[in-house]
Amino acid sequence: MRNASPLVASHTEDGSFIASDMVALLKYTKDYFVVPEEHIVVMKADSITLYTMDGGVEEPKMLHVDWDTTAAQKGGYDFFMQKEIYDQPEALHNTIMPRIHNGHADFSADNISDDIFKGVNRVIVTACGTAWHAGLVGRHLIEAMIRIPVTVELASEFRYMNPILDEHTLVVVITQSGETADSLAALRLANERGAKTISIVNVKGSSIARESDYVLYTHAGPEIAVASTKAYTTQMAALFALIGRMAVVRGAFNEEQEKAFVDALMQAPDAIQQVLDRKEEMHHIARGLLEAKDAFMLGRGLDYAILLEGALKLKEVSYIHTEAYASGELKHGTIALITEKTPVVALVTQERVRDKELSNIREVQSRGASVVVLVKDGIDLADADYTHVFTLPAMDDVAMAFPASAALQLLAYYVSMDRGLDVDKPRNLAKVVTVE
Ligand code: G6P
Repeated sequence: MRNASPLVASHTEDGSFIASDMVALLKYTKDYFVVPEEHIVVMKADSITLYTMDGGVEEPKMLHVDWDTTAAQKGGYDFFMQKEIYDQPEALHNTIMPRIHNGHADFSADNISDDIFKGVNRVIVTACGTAWHAGLVGRHLIEAMIRIPVTVELASEFRYMNPILDEHTLVVVITQSGETADSLAALRLANERGAKTISIVNVKGSSIARESDYVLYTHAGPEIAVASTKAYTTQMAALFALIGRMAVVRGAFNEEQEKAFVDALMQAPDAIQQVLDRKEEMHHIARGLLEAKDAFMLGRGLDYAILLEGALKLKEVSYIHTEAYASGELKHGTIALITEKTPVVALVTQERVRDKELSNIREVQSRGASVVVLVKDGIDLADADYTHVFTLPAMDDVAMAFPASAALQLLAYYVSMDRGLDVDKPRNLAKVVTVE
């Protein structure tokens, strides 16, 4: 019987199956149904029947996943996290291309009506963990491109802060699993209060996908490692597409701006591939962090948003306490923690804050910190002496989150692996959190 927590079921020639996640069934079948809330499934060797609580028989709504059966296997990689990092160029391609037609972002195949973008005067993005970080990147883009105020709320806080919501608010819920209890509760509150809702979800037919007004699926394929990688970059790609469409509908883009934006998005898979091709360079950099107890990541603007996810990645798989800091805020206390024992990773991809960022890097260097700089190709680092410099392929500044995130994922992966940890299953964490 289903009561709140996710449940999927299927029947095949080999019998009936039930699981909390479709990925578990993939070895046996690609056809399944989501057991609806407060329903009963009777499973027999030769049949499966769905009942309502009052005993009525109900026809299950069958779903089909197009993931191939090897998608949930390691396929020659040592860890799922490693495989999923390498899956990204293809996953991004799958998320982006169906939403681009003749150079325009287009959601006709997703049945998303343009009406959802009209009459909106505020956007609230809500999510948990990595998906929340994708929302932070999205906020920078929406505000810069569309000039609508955006707030990004932790779903676990959302329903306790009595949020202001009405029919002019667009609530965007981002979630890999579509089953995170806090995100689902946030969505339900938004629905109850009459906001327009759209979710960016990876798992088809999940609760959040079903309960939103509209859903934009990321086509990342199954993500097994607890630390999210390809789900995150495909969430950002879906947000890009959403912003591209919204900007057109609201007249915020001229032709040239739209073209530049769509082009940048379409280059994302290749930019990530270029970073992955230089994995050994990042492995070498990772060796410098193995003994660290604490680390800092510094950046400004979009770089800061990207680093919040980079820091989460490093801490969750390596257990090194890592904090991402907005570089300008460091001097208000945190710089007291910088010593020669705290490695710093600085991200410099945003041309307009380059000078300020370089001066913040000098501040931590003068306290003895070793600094790894991830820099957009073409940005001049002014010949200072850094411990390592990793050059990221140049894209439009707004799209630098793609190559930068791939580099930060590799860093976290190698530190975890070289510390001999279980990369895919960090202690105390769960992939899908269906409790509050
Ligand atoms: C868990 C996972 C994280 C994930 C978060 C939100 O904490 O370990 O990797 O980012 O839940 O999950 P969702 O499925 O909603 O994206």
